[in-house]
Amino acid sequence: MGELFDYNILLIGFMGAGKSTVADYMKKAYSMDVVEMDQIIAERQGLSISEIFEKYGEEFFRDLETALLVEMQSRKNVVISCGGGVPMRERNVKEMKKNGRVVLLTAKPETILERVKDDHNRPLLEGKKNVEYIAELMEKRREKYQAAADLIVETDGRTAEEICGEIIRKLQGNKEEMEK
Ligand code: S3P
Repeated sequence: MGELFDYNILLIGFMGAGKSTVADYMKKAYSMDVVEMDQIIAERQGLSISEIFEKYGEEFFRDLETALLVEMQSRKNVVISCGGGVPMRERNVKEMKKNGRVVLLTAKPETILERVKDDHNRPLLEGKKNVEYIAELMEKRREKYQAAADLIVETDGRTAEEICGEIIRKLQGNKEEMEK
């Protein structure tokens, strides 16, 4: 199979919105390469995300995210699963748009809580895993998430297959529209 896209697909959204799950499915079903930003950053530092935050602070981690987005501009047909905080920096949004389409995955706070409750590698949620806190942080981020997105896809109660189908269809539909 040839390459589906001549650009990258950047998945953004809140922690637990399903970015990694959707990226895994894209890899399996469409043979796309996947870059899991948190995982690459952790591997390169030889530390977990929580350890990077503890040892060097959040700003340092955010700088690594920006550098990785720039690095990915030389690639195409890669699904990039971005950390939940990536779109909060204006510079990151510019870097994402240079070689990619940005897809925002959304979910209700209740759904997010269900998905993240047993995970302990999300320092921003540790000790605050409740619907109120998640809803509040989500609300603070909403505007920037929406402004960064080329496409918004809801994930509540849907399978990875359904979500990926919608993403591919809509991105390819846009291409056909543009070629008309
Ligand atoms: C963060 C999200 C995390 C990770 C870090 C900070 C955020 O990624 O990058 O803990 O600021 O929302 P996931 O969205 O993959 O959980």
